[in-house]
Amino acid sequence: MAKNSGAAESEIVERLAELRDLVRYHRDRYYNDEPELPDADFDALFNELLALEAEHPDLADPDSPTKEVGAPVSATFAPVEHTVPMMSLDNAFDENELEGWAERIAKGLELGDEIDIATAKIGYVCELKIDGIALSLRYENGSLVQGATRGNGRVGDDITANIRTIDEIPHEIDGPAVLEVRGEVYLPVATFDKLNESQEAAGLARYANPRNTAAGSLRQKDPSITASRGLAFWAYQLGQVEGGPELTGHGAALDWIGELGFPVNPERRVVETFTEVLEFTRHWQEHRHDLPYEIDGAVIKVDSLATQRSLGSTARAPRWAMAYKLPPEEKTTTLIDIHVSIGRTGKATPFAVLEPVVVAGSTVRMATLHNADQVALKGVRPGDTVNVRKAGDVIPEVLGPVLSERPAGLPEWVFPTNCPSCHELLVRPEDEAHTFCVNPTCPARQQTQIEYFASRGAMDIDGMGESRVALFIEQGLIADVGDLFSIDWERVGELEGFGQTSIDNLQAAIAAATQRPLASLLVGLGIRHLGPSGAESLASAFGHLDAIMEAPAEEMAAIDGVGPVIAASVASYFASPKAHELVEKFRAGGVNLEGPERSELPQVLEGLSIVVTGSLEGYSRDGAAEAIKSRGGKNPGSVSKKTSAVVVGSDPGASKLTKAEDLGIPVLDEAGFVELLETGTVPGIADEKTG
Ligand code: IVH
Repeated sequence: MAKNSGAAESEIVERLAELRDLVRYHRDRYYNDEPELPDADFDALFNELLALEAEHPDLADPDSPTKEVGAPVSATFAPVEHTVPMMSLDNAFDENELEGWAERIAKGLELGDEIDIATAKIGYVCELKIDGIALSLRYENGSLVQGATRGNGRVGDDITANIRTIDEIPHEIDGPAVLEVRGEVYLPVATFDKLNESQEAAGLARYANPRNTAAGSLRQKDPSITASRGLAFWAYQLGQVEGGPELTGHGAALDWIGELGFPVNPERRVVETFTEVLEFTRHWQEHRHDLPYEIDGAVIKVDSLATQRSLGSTARAPRWAMAYKLPPEEKTTTLIDIHVSIGRTGKATPFAVLEPVVVAGSTVRMATLHNADQVALKGVRPGDTVNVRKAGDVIPEVLGPVLSERPAGLPEWVFPTNCPSCHELLVRPEDEAHTFCVNPTCPARQQTQIEYFASRGAMDIDGMGESRVALFIEQGLIADVGDLFSIDWERVGELEGFGQTSIDNLQAAIAAATQRPLASLLVGLGIRHLGPSGAESLASAFGHLDAIMEAPAEEMAAIDGVGPVIAASVASYFASPKAHELVEKFRAGGVNLEGPERSELPQVLEGLSIVVTGSLEGYSRDGAAEAIKSRGGKNPGSVSKKTSAVVVGSDPGASKLTKAEDLGIPVLDEAGFVELLETGTVPGIADEKTG
């Protein structure tokens, strides 16, 4: 990118680290259904990162979020390392892109320049792209032993107990010694609608769409909840197989999977030519809603397994398969009104209240309008007929008004001057796109902030959900997150619906939360831009919340994994007296304010910066990073002049090794790494710290 050319390498390294952290953070928010950025802003960050990485391949980091294929792996379930990586798919958004892929296949197969791609007999399997959650099932000697999510493609979550409750997944098969079957867990549309009917009948919030509901249902701690949701499964791919028949084609593999007792989608077609592929995609473009489940496209795979092997894969996706994404569907409906919601940071977000309309298979009733500028840009007014579509087929989006249908004299919408919850004046800071309620005691802010603090990704207080938070605020039992640790339980006992067991459970959950790691507490505070990895870096670098509160932004920005944006945000958060008040409430409530046992290990790596590349036998990637950081060292993702040593495992990144050699940086094997961890001395460099 031109804007970066000529920038000092240290600035580029810093910007890369910052972008990687921001992308991780906002991706995490997105996966937790709490996006803070409009999609376009996220895409801009992601694209800047992609461009900067492409421009500086020497600064590549195998752990960059651009290399990840899906959602982050969670702490709630045990990790499962996939024997065969669960890859993602490259996307084609129109027929030209799909044809481009077919041409690349023909080129890879060296079919010559003269061939007509429309009629060339390449042999494809056409499948539906099911809009659900990828799952890998492992069978050993015919018994189901494991079910795992895709996670980041290399490591997923062990959700065996939950997937055992899905009727369509066999527990025993007449299969080979080892068999991994991959497929998609989904929620049929009718089941989703029924679930929402019962939610409404119980006065509970509706689920957004079948895909997210399927994802949430799979991630339950209690398998009986998963069982109650009516999930279904389509198998579409083999993973590791030991034994079994000699298979030559993917179409035959799908037939075999079906014979073993797995549900395989009947709409698949094995065809010879690209013309037939287009017939398939065009048919489903027209008929997608004739299906009782949601699809977001088609997946076209080269049939011959030998050809698949010769084409191979990139780091992210196989070259022998392509997802053809169906264009987002648009509908028109009436914009009944524009309301404003107040988030935990006080951000006032306008959203469209719509006459319910079915778009891409599910009912849309509301859509975010992001901020005042976006409302103005779209030019929509309450009473307008508007075009609605689902962005990425998930998030509903109002595109704009149908001006020909605008009633005469329809007034423009004006952003409210006062907070709809606490009625204080709303503030739009200069140069900011967003408007905020700056009243720290605003009930709407506190409600979302407390829910977030108690959520699984933060302090994980079981039983402290939306309705209890609302009740406790309304009853004056809590006004902020600090109050959770000094609740008047006698008064709670007087509330309707609170027996001794509920009180005991909630008290125990809050007591357990007092012992959570400092990083969870930091995440729970909801400081803008600070995600779990930045919080962990701060917690282990400073060792105590008091030290973080006192640290100047520059000191925080110097920490590996914390860029200037995060550092400035944390410093400004702790500059507020309200933050100090909260911390005192935590202290009084016995909440853990200490970081990981950093002080127990000798800080022999202080001042050293150690890069690890490739796989080590005795350490996972995170384990090696932790071993370095817990001894006071830094573990950046790339080699620079400041690097003290590069530790090399099997399959190292070639660019890191070359760079280390070019810069004359010591290169260590695993034994050297172990010695370095013990002594703080780079083996072979007599008694002196490098760097
Ligand atoms: S094949 C190595 N086939 O789409 C190939 N994926 O956007 C792995 N998906 O992660 C995937 N229907 O979760 C394949 N018929 C199908 C699919 C399918 C849905 C999902 C799957 C994958 C994602 C990529």
